[in-house]
Amino acid sequence: MPQRPYIVGNWKMHGTRAMLSEARAIDRAAQRHMKVEVAIAPPYTLIHPVHREAEQIAVGAQDCHHEEGGAHTGDISATMVADAGAKFVILGHSERRQNHGESDALIKQKTNAALAAGLRIILCCGESEKTREAGKAVNFVKKQLKASLPDFGDDTDLISEKLTVAYEPIWAIGTGKTATVDDIAEMHAEIRTLLVSLYGEEQGGEVRILYGGSVKPENASEILGTPEVGGALVGGASLTADSFMGIALAAGDAEEG
Ligand code: 13P
Repeated sequence: MPQRPYIVGNWKMHGTRAMLSEARAIDRAAQRHMKVEVAIAPPYTLIHPVHREAEQIAVGAQDCHHEEGGAHTGDISATMVADAGAKFVILGHSERRQNHGESDALIKQKTNAALAAGLRIILCCGESEKTREAGKAVNFVKKQLKASLPDFGDDTDLISEKLTVAYEPIWAIGTGKTATVDDIAEMHAEIRTLLVSLYGEEQGGEVRILYGGSVKPENASEILGTPEVGGALVGGASLTADSFMGIALAAGDAEEG
């Protein structure tokens, strides 16, 4: 059975305890829109407070270290975020790849660590403007994704629940630019083909593929109505309940339409 549309807020480095009221408002609104799965990934410091207050939405982390523990000052493991109440972790975001030099190989280690800690994964991929202009976007994204996916081994039963892919073209993040519907449809179809070839129709066909990059209430219907778009990973517009739930509402409508 197809999964519900998945609308995930990535709060990035935004949010102090003053933002808890916004998280509460998102949670309350999500209770009225059960056709859509709503989740937020606040900064580490708010994972536990949001988890304690949320009745409906899942809370997640924006990253984790690839080891379970050790002498890694300032780092946080998958086990720790799970202990704080996180149910999922975003991995391979382009801001981590760019600002922290994260390679596909490291992200693969992180996805494996997340699985071992019982977390669901939102694995991000996406090309730069230069790569798109060179006509190499599809090949780049498929290669990046393949190299960062976890090793599911023989444990293939629940892949579509454990794994979500987020396609986020780097040039569309925080810029107000979005990819065209045709480009999104093409990339999502290519990602779907890859997932089916790796995990078979039953699991690979059901993994949700989110789009991310300047998604707002105003453009959400069009984006979420695009074939193979199973939801959205939202940055700026997830910081207020009003705009974030505007996107969730559009997801519910796209589901019905
Ligand atoms: P914006 O929605 O602010 O463009 O951010 C997208 C993003 O990076 C979500 O992970």
